[in-house]
Amino acid sequence: MEQAVEDYAISPLTSHTGAEVRGIDLRRPVDDALRTRLNQAFVDHSVLVIRDQKLSAPEFLQAMQVFGEPFPQHNPRFRVPECPMIHYVSNQDRYEDGTIYIPGEGYHTDHSNDPAPPKATALHAVKLPRRGGDTQFVNMSEAYAALPQETKRRISGLKARHVFQSRHSARKLMSLPEEKRESLAGSVVHPLVRTHPETGRRSLYINPVRIEEIIGMEEPQALRLLDELLAHATQPRFEYRHQWKHGDLVIWDNRCLLHKANGDYPVEEVRYLYRIMLRGETPV
Ligand SMILES: [Fe+2]
Repeated sequence: MEQAVEDYAISPLTSHTGAEVRGIDLRRPVDDALRTRLNQAFVDHSVLVIRDQKLSAPEFLQAMQVFGEPFPQHNPRFRVPECPMIHYVSNQDRYEDGTIYIPGEGYHTDHSNDPAPPKATALHAVKLPRRGGDTQFVNMSEAYAALPQETKRRISGLKARHVFQSRHSARKLMSLPEEKRESLAGSVVHPLVRTHPETGRRSLYINPVRIEEIIGMEEPQALRLLDELLAHATQPRFEYRHQWKHGDLVIWDNRCLLHKANGDYPVEEVRYLYRIMLRGETPV
């Protein structure tokens, strides 16, 4: 039986970012009215925390089609074997030198080196550490709106080159398998300020892991500007910090948020989540 719109409750988590959804079971079909309301809530709140789900990887893939079409993620080494459109995020992988790899540390936006980066990413908790491992989000529309007029003028019209792994990145990504190296070797150019296709709001679109240069700007000046914008955008007043609970499914809007993971829990505690991304638009 389909779930009706009146079955669920939605409540904001901060004044600007995040809302909690209770009372739905994403294994069951969603009717048109509920689909519309969930998509509107996603656009309005930028992060939806859908509580009390228990989805297998194929069920997660199916359920997220309420919000859009799956986007093929870049590094196939993280595919979940029984459902390759779903990847996993885990603290159990190691770099080639044996050190532990914590994916997603440091603020970033997903796969911005793609010509049309994913509009959304969703994670579903499978195993969580007893404490820690929060995901932090900052709202880049709010951050842009709060910039001084002079800064808005200074960055208007600027474009940045995004690559798989910026040489300026403080974080090292897990290397790509041979067959993907060539297809992801290129770069794309995106505006530094993008307009959300659904809300019409402007957002900063920066990514310390992937921005290689600002077109037409000297490197020291570009790096200073990016640092300044990042410091502004990552202030607590723009943040929603998600503390994971068992059963959580969190979906967020990459078009107007940065996010980061925290590796602040004992390494022997497993943290394992399913991840999917949904197709997005070319940023303008
Ligand atoms: Fe990420």
